[in-house]
Amino acid sequence: MDALIDALFTQGYYIWDDFLTSQQVQNINAEMPSNWQAAKIGRNEDLLQQTSIRSDDIQWLSPAMGPSIEHYLALMEEIRLTVNRHLYLGLFEYEAHFAKYSAGDFYKKHLDSFNGSTNRRLTTVFYLNQDWVPQDGGELMMYDQNDQPLQKVAPIGGRLVVFLSETFPHEVLVSYRERYSIAGWFRVNGVTEQQLDISR
Ligand code: OGA
Ligand code: MN
Repeated sequence: MDALIDALFTQGYYIWDDFLTSQQVQNINAEMPSNWQAAKIGRNEDLLQQTSIRSDDIQWLSPAMGPSIEHYLALMEEIRLTVNRHLYLGLFEYEAHFAKYSAGDFYKKHLDSFNGSTNRRLTTVFYLNQDWVPQDGGELMMYDQNDQPLQKVAPIGGRLVVFLSETFPHEVLVSYRERYSIAGWFRVNGVTEQQLDISR
């Protein structure tokens, strides 16, 4: 946790390898329901499915899905409290979804938080893939504030990536095999993406 705080403070992002063991990753995979829906982009009236930008499927996490998923959410709550204590980001709540990329799926370069519209402050991405090899593609490509390539991150099981949502554009390169992750966001206040979707 100290390394996370240091890295967020100095560079705005952190790659936490072996955040969970492969057994814990397997347990989460076993509890993951198969209630997939096509991912959408934007909010309110603009909410629409744009498969030219992202082609993955998602489902929102709930602690009721099982003890390992509940535990994962509890760990995110620990991160939220620790980050607030040290970095004063005022993170208020967390929402997260599973994402499933089938072979050929991608997510073009984007920011998770748009000026003035959402209030996502800190992004987490946790990977659920066993035995990922370079030929599988599907890397998270991170860019800096000047849109210069920063780091390519393979979606290796047990790895957690944390970054400031408003600072780092990023994309998911084409994946050549099924790719599973949990993407989540700590936000400062207001209505959640999940609520917007449910209320439509
Ligand atoms: C996202 C996202 C990255 C990844 O869902 O917003 O950027 O590596 N995911 O899955
Ligand atoms: Mn993103």
